[in-house]
Parts: sequence; structure tokens; C-alpha cells
Amino acid sequence: MKFFIDTANLEQIKEAQELGVLDGVTTNPSLMAKEGITGKQNILDHYLKICELVEGDVSAEVIATDFDGMVAEGEELAALDSKIVVKLPLIEDGIKAAKYFSTKGIKTNVTLVFSVGQALLAAKAGATYVSPFIGRLDDISTDGLNLIAEIRQVFDNFGFETEILAASVRHTMHIVDCAKIGADVMTGPLSSIKGLLKHPLTDIGLEKFLADYKKGNA
Ligand code: E4P
Repeated sequence: MKFFIDTANLEQIKEAQELGVLDGVTTNPSLMAKEGITGKQNILDHYLKICELVEGDVSAEVIATDFDGMVAEGEELAALDSKIVVKLPLIEDGIKAAKYFSTKGIKTNVTLVFSVGQALLAAKAGATYVSPFIGRLDDISTDGLNLIAEIRQVFDNFGFETEILAASVRHTMHIVDCAKIGADVMTGPLSSIKGLLKHPLTDIGLEKFLADYKKGNA
């Protein structure tokens, strides 16, 4: 399973990259705003900075909601760097734009997916990634992980190449469960990725190994 980090924070992207487990980055307009990145040129420059830090795909979301606007914006984003993946909302024109970009060989990430039917449409349109939001479904008492499992089944039934990018990951167990289900990618915060490191028996065991070494090598 690929690990993407879901942030526009350069320090956190760098830290995940240095850990050696990072396969890409996802951003969205809210994450860019959180970092105080505003204005078209600053946003484009920030994407370039992210692309310099990582080796994998970097999802950059369009703001337009009509087909022509999404195509114009997506083409501008894609021209920035070969790592850029054009992120499109799952609305009618977003699906049309995903089809357009797939015929042009430009990677897409269809986002804001909350149902199997939506994921199926994105796959039919040739999206590179489809992003079901686990956490936001959990927030409204709906099983987000079940959606990942159902999309996995449908994509496997027909051999769709679209990758399932489990998004809106809120904690470490979401990552583990997505791996069990067979999501192709997960995108989550640095805290969830680093949470995978933690086990008290590891800490206790290391402490004992070092103490025993110290005894014999005093
Ligand atoms: C990723 O592509 C999404 O933008 C992101 O995972 C949404 O996460 P949130 O529900 O925590 O905002």
C-alpha cells in the first residue's frame, strides 16, 4: 500500500519523506488555507516546493466547478511538474474532466467520494485515483471502512485500474484496516503515519536490551 501524506505543511512533508516511507502528497484548498497559502501565484509556487521535496505524486485540487474551468486550471497545474495529479471533485463536470484528462494521459484524483456508485463513475471515466473519505463518513455514524471494502470488491470484479486512495484518514487504525481491506493508497496526517511506530513492548524491550548491554560493558 502506498503512503501519501495529507497536508500542505512543508516541514511535515519533509519529515515523512525523511522517514523513508512516503509515496506522495495530497492537498486540498482547506489544507492550503491552513498553511496561509493564498493567491494564485503563491499557490502554484507552493505546489512546486512540495514537488521538490517528494518523489511521488502530488495531488493539486482545482477550484473551478465547470468543465472548461477545470480543464484550464488542471492543465496549468499539470504543466507545473510531472508529479502533479489533477484533483477533481466528484460532480458531473468533474467526471467529464476526469475523462478528458485520462485521454490526454494526465493523472487525476477524483475526490469527495462517499458512495460505491460515485467510485464506479470515476473509474469508468479513467481516473488514476478515487478518494473515498473514511473519516467524514465515520463522523456521521456511517462505516467509512465498509465503503473502502465495497469499492475494492467492485473494482476487482471488473479489473478497474483506478487506484483506491483511502482519504480522510484520522488515526493509525484506519491505516491498518485499509491495508487489510486492500486499499491501494492511504492519505493521512503525519501523526497517523508515525502512530504506526508505537508499541509499548518495543520501548520496554529496547530499554532492557540497552540496560543489559550497559551491565556487561560498564
Ligand atoms: C484528501 O484528499 C482529502 O482532501 C482529505 O483526506 C480530507 O480529510 P479530512 O476529512 O480530514 O478533511
